[in-house]
Amino acid sequence: MSILKVARMGHPVLREAARPLVKSDFRDPLVQKLIDDMIDTMHEYHGVGLAAPQVHEGLRIFVAMLDDHPDEEKSEVAVVINPEITPITGARVEGWEGCLSIPDIRGMVPRHMEIAVASLDRKGHKVERRLKGFPARVAQHETDHLDGILFLDRMTPDAMKTLAYLDEYSKYHAKDDD
Ligand code: NI
Repeated sequence: MSILKVARMGHPVLREAARPLVKSDFRDPLVQKLIDDMIDTMHEYHGVGLAAPQVHEGLRIFVAMLDDHPDEEKSEVAVVINPEITPITGARVEGWEGCLSIPDIRGMVPRHMEIAVASLDRKGHKVERRLKGFPARVAQHETDHLDGILFLDRMTPDAMKTLAYLDEYSKYHAKDDD
């Protein structure tokens, strides 16, 4: 188990499209170790999701807390590989997001409220999920990382006005979430 270095905005790896995993990747001990290290790294920095490009690996893998009420102690971490997202409703909702690659910044980002996510698990087995609300938001944010997209890119000009440093977010805006 290792804590990996997280790439910050400006590093080119965050702007590259990651490659899908193929069958042989799932048997590669280095890929399995990467997944374990990504989980440890996400917990270490109290993230709710982490995508492989954020730890300098151009692979279509993310790990995330996708339970409705995530609890770092109890919740199982979802390992999501080669995700394909299909919106279930056209409705988008704005909600606060942050990113370990854009430290200490929060902003309101529009996302699909409800999505279906087709993916593979760490053994290469197919998994279908239906997500709404915050877990749907996390899955869209992390999948964007696999295409070189950061949450700032998804913000509307009006939403850009919500950008806040973490201290100011906590002071003035965190209560919006309740
Ligand atoms: Ni992120």
